[in-house]
Amino acid sequence: MKANIGINKSDSAKIVEILSHYLADSYYLYLKTHNFHWNVTGMYFENLHKLFDTQYNALFDSLDEIAERIRSLGEFVPATYSQLKELTCLKETKEVPKDREMIKILLEDHETIIRNLRSWIEETNKAGDAGTSDFLTARIEEHEKTAWMLRSHFD
Ligand SMILES: [Fe+2]
Repeated sequence: MKANIGINKSDSAKIVEILSHYLADSYYLYLKTHNFHWNVTGMYFENLHKLFDTQYNALFDSLDEIAERIRSLGEFVPATYSQLKELTCLKETKEVPKDREMIKILLEDHETIIRNLRSWIEETNKAGDAGTSDFLTARIEEHEKTAWMLRSHFD
């Protein structure tokens, strides 16, 4: 049965496209953060291993919220590796970077997501989708806080 929630078909399609892109970016950043949790080395191993643990878990939890927001709009979730690869604008990190470089890479990815979210919120507002706007606004605050934590490793 189709969702009859007062959002027209083309706006709904646009919002699902936004949420799908956000899901893919979040999935990529989740995996990258988990990867760095496993592979970080150096003097600050313990701190960074724990910090990345907190961050990958938070990102993992967000995946379910993003996906279920898509379902609430009445669409199916793109949830295969090939679909996510197609949708994301983030780049994989193939090698194992030094610890400082890991922090920088994660920071840049969060900042990319923050900039995307800022323009996506404008679009969801225009479409009158208060639920998604509210959800993405809460998410932007979360990414901004994480970005601050990462950025604070640098003077
Ligand atoms: Fe672990």
